[in-house]
Amino acid sequence: MNSLRRQIIKALSITGLGLGFSQPLLARRGMGGGGRGNSISNLIFENTAMGTNATVVPETLVSNTQVLKIPSLDTGEIIEGKRVFNLNIAKASSEFFEGVFTETVGVNQAFLGTTLRARRDETVQLNVTNQLDEITTIHWHGMHLPPSMDGGPHQTIAQNETWKSEFKINQQATTLWYHSHTHEKTGEQVYRGQAGMFILDDDNSEQLALPSEYGVDDIPLIIQDRKFNSDGSFQYLGSMRDRVMGMKGDTILVNGTLKPVANVERRLIRLRLLNGSNARIYNFGFSDNRQFEQIASDGGFLEQAVSLDRLRLSPGERAEILVDFQDGRQCSLQSFADSSSGISSIGASRRGMFGNIVGSETSAMQDTETLNIVDFNPIATQIASHTVPTVLNSINRFNVADAQTTRSFTLSMDRMRFAINGKVMDMMRIDETIPLGATEIWEVTNNSSGMTHSFHVHDVQYQILSRNGKTPAANEQGWKDTIIVDPMETVQIIMQFKDYADANIPYMYHCHILEHEDQGMMGQFLVI
Ligand code: C2O
Ligand code: CU
Ligand code: CU
Repeated sequence: MNSLRRQIIKALSITGLGLGFSQPLLARRGMGGGGRGNSISNLIFENTAMGTNATVVPETLVSNTQVLKIPSLDTGEIIEGKRVFNLNIAKASSEFFEGVFTETVGVNQAFLGTTLRARRDETVQLNVTNQLDEITTIHWHGMHLPPSMDGGPHQTIAQNETWKSEFKINQQATTLWYHSHTHEKTGEQVYRGQAGMFILDDDNSEQLALPSEYGVDDIPLIIQDRKFNSDGSFQYLGSMRDRVMGMKGDTILVNGTLKPVANVERRLIRLRLLNGSNARIYNFGFSDNRQFEQIASDGGFLEQAVSLDRLRLSPGERAEILVDFQDGRQCSLQSFADSSSGISSIGASRRGMFGNIVGSETSAMQDTETLNIVDFNPIATQIASHTVPTVLNSINRFNVADAQTTRSFTLSMDRMRFAINGKVMDMMRIDETIPLGATEIWEVTNNSSGMTHSFHVHDVQYQILSRNGKTPAANEQGWKDTIIVDPMETVQIIMQFKDYADANIPYMYHCHILEHEDQGMMGQFLVI
């Protein structure tokens, strides 16, 4: 900590930031500057003027394009028949901008976590040690597992303690992820870097002749947006707007890389897209509008590849896509103006009480601007290109007639309260109780006219039956655990709650805009 502090001070004096830099909010909140008890940081930060709440990258921070970082792959170690992972959550320092060090959190690395990888039917044991100076949790997002192993807000890990999560991989190959799920602190902890990818393999994924060399032709892309103070520290919740709309930044990081360039071979490349942002919805596409093939959604492969030129992902959602770089032309993955997403699609007259909040957003904040995500630089290859398989998976459709129960969930935001069915999250209240084995239809309605929400359910992978009564798009007909719910939209999903019951420990369902979740847009269900 002290050496980190010294590095930051050194960086500040080198770049001449010692004078007049804005108040690092995170330091005040115990994030940027190491928090309470750090007299050096207090001394520095107390003596600076209250800063402005900048919505553009401070001019003092310089960056050039960088080669895309790839989180290292952790396949654990087989001990007594189990695949064992040792994970340490700890503070570190990351150089996003040249010569400037940002205090971050990582799992076995400085920022974000290593990519974990396991296979269907294996028993995994994850030993998670909390080296932070506050409690935390680690949740395995998208995993089908007992609630005690889920890493939700009830499975807290005290400082310097190790939580052991052990379960059998009981689902098909896909791209999952893991992240903090600490009660009312998820947004802040994920923002600092407590998140990583979790890849699952199975017979099918190995038989499909897909690009599968990690980091070479099978590339993880953890896409996040951040706001920085002029001293390089992360800025979190600088305004009321950040709390209401969710924390959006003006700077894109991919795997923790600023302005990333990926050198890929001139052939078919697989990208595992993970929207690891707190609140931003991306509308992905390529700068030359080339088509790409979506092959997997949250919970597994689609039955067949779906050709797309745009793909919307809300926080928490994943998609695997195949992109053909055989033409050798440089292009960029971008996020385009999102006309369907809440705020930008409605007129000023309908913005209601948020008009002034929204009005102060820059265009980047309003999702009306094109954002650059990753530049691709195709280079010569000796290897023949893969082709897109015609059949990827077979998906058993749930039968509506098998659903015993239909439950309704209304997402609403009023009087500054984020609620589901009018209730703000209460750790002591069980909202729904589901019999083990039940197939259910959940009807999720977004009741806020000016805001897109998302909806995530723990433990299960579900299927979308309809969006506003209509059949979902082809790329939404596979396994999902998180979905976009647009303003005034009702989405019907169907799922089965099987294998794991617990009379005391609940699973969560919530909006995956982390500031909404932290402010109460979450509920708890028991499977008994
Ligand atoms: Cu990705 Cu309940 O979380
Ligand atoms: Cu989850
Ligand atoms: Cu929300």
